[in-house]
Amino acid sequence: MTLSAQEFAYVSDLVRRNSAIVLDTGKEYLVEARLLPLARLAGIPTVSEFVSRVQQRPEPATHEKIVDALTTNETSWFRDSEPFQAITAKVLPDLIPARSANRTLRVWSAACSSGQEPYSLAMVLQESLPAGWTYEITATDISQEMLSRAETGRFTQLEVNRGLPANMLVRHFERDGTHWQVAAGLRENIAFKRMNLAVALPPMPQFDLVFLRNVLIYFDVETKRQVLSRVSAVMRPDGWLFLGSAETTIGIDDRFERVSAGRSSAYRLRGGQTTASAAALGKE
Ligand SMILES: C[S@@+](CC[C@H](N)C(=O)[O-])C[C@H]1O[C@@H](n2cnc3c(N)ncnc32)[C@H](O)[C@@H]1O
Repeated sequence: MTLSAQEFAYVSDLVRRNSAIVLDTGKEYLVEARLLPLARLAGIPTVSEFVSRVQQRPEPATHEKIVDALTTNETSWFRDSEPFQAITAKVLPDLIPARSANRTLRVWSAACSSGQEPYSLAMVLQESLPAGWTYEITATDISQEMLSRAETGRFTQLEVNRGLPANMLVRHFERDGTHWQVAAGLRENIAFKRMNLAVALPPMPQFDLVFLRNVLIYFDVETKRQVLSRVSAVMRPDGWLFLGSAETTIGIDDRFERVSAGRSSAYRLRGGQTTASAAALGKE
């Protein structure tokens, strides 16, 4: 039995209210495919019956599972490579002199999925920061299932094959049966937390570098604007923001300007570098 228009509307409304993810008409196939395992787990033969049951007996835990199932968690190591090259080519040469007093960098991997992004960031920072420097990565996602997987730091051979260079694998992982385990030296620099970008953020530190990649694409323009505004509020004035290759702040949030960063583009707060230098000179 296929999902009725009313059942599809119920699911897309539920997902939008809880995550801001937009599921337009035409995505019925996606809802069916993603909810079938949940229906089966509940012993219900069809997605249509499962959704009717949820409508009759709404439960927050089931709602959370539905939202989780409808997130798209596609990711890979050093995804698109250029933003990661830009860290060594542009971001660190810019930030290292500016942070020489504290010798620490704070990084946020917002929408980190199963962890490949924050672990890739950790590998770059571990290998490129000068001796005596430290870094802290906050890695967040709305999907509890993804966070639980990310936190283990255990990846299958198939997962490792998706973009992890062999030399990085050798330097930062240990074999564990059929899996690969991220070294403790990387993991101790990353804190994983559940966080919904579509609602007010909890108290956060000010970040030097934010990776907000391949998540704005799921939101409508108003939500993109709100998320970018929240992100701008937790960025250091001279911090760096990287978005996915199909995403931009242009026409959405004028606080940011696009700058070239090696062969990639990044976003910085307009006038931020002036504010930061003035603060460093004690003028503010
Ligand atoms: C396609 S993945 C991107 C992963 C990684 N940033 C990358 O570029 O490879 C999108 C992630 O955004 C997360 N997501 C979707 N809506 C979210 C929200 N409202 N708040 C936080 N994370 C969300 C999903 O759970 C998913 O893991």
